[in-house]
Amino acid sequence: MDDLFPIKIENAQAMIAFGEQIAESLKAGDVVALVGDLGAGKTHITQGIAKKLGYLAEVTSPTFALVNEYVAAKPELIHFDLYRLEQAEELLEIGWEEYLERDAVLVVEWADRFPELMPAGTICIHIEHVEGGRELFYSKI
Ligand SMILES: Nc1ncnc2c1ncn2[C@@H]1O[C@H](COP(=O)(O)OP(=O)(O)OP(=O)(O)O)[C@@H](O)[C@H]1O
Ligand SMILES: [Mg+2]
Repeated sequence: MDDLFPIKIENAQAMIAFGEQIAESLKAGDVVALVGDLGAGKTHITQGIAKKLGYLAEVTSPTFALVNEYVAAKPELIHFDLYRLEQAEELLEIGWEEYLERDAVLVVEWADRFPELMPAGTICIHIEHVEGGRELFYSKI
C-alpha cells in the first residue's frame, strides 16, 4: 500500500479510481484514517473503496449521521465522519469499540480530530490541496 504514495491526483474521478486501488490491499479489520481539510476529497476516496468492495449504491458523506454502514460490501464497509463530533465519548457511546471488533473495513473522515481513538496499525492517508489537484501521503499510526 505505501508504495502507492506519495501521489498527485488531479480530479475527483481519479480520486475515486485511487480509492479502488487502495481497496485492493484492504482486509476486514483494517482502519483507514482520511485526513485532510474541508473538501480535500475524503468522501471520493471512500466512494472508490466502496465501489471496489462491491457496494454499488451511492456513498455520501455521513456528516449528519456520524456513521454509515455499507453491509452489501465485502468485507462490510463502515464509514465515519468525525467532523461534527465534539467529544470522543460520543463515538464510544455509539459503539466505536464494537465497530473495531467487526469483520469490516472502517474508513474514518476527520480521524485526526480524535487521534487517541485510532488503534495501532491504522492506515493514515493525508490529503493536501495543491495547485491542480491534491497530493496524498501515507503513514501508519
Ligand atoms: N483530486 C482532486 N482534484 C480536484 N478536485 C477534487 C479532487 N478530489 C475531490 N475533488 C473535489 O473536491 C470536492 C470535495 O470532495 P469530497 O466531498 O470528497 O471532500 P471531503 O474531504 O469528503 O469533504 P468534507 O471535508 O466536506 O467531508 C468535490 O467537489 C470533488 O469533486
Ligand atoms: Mg466528506
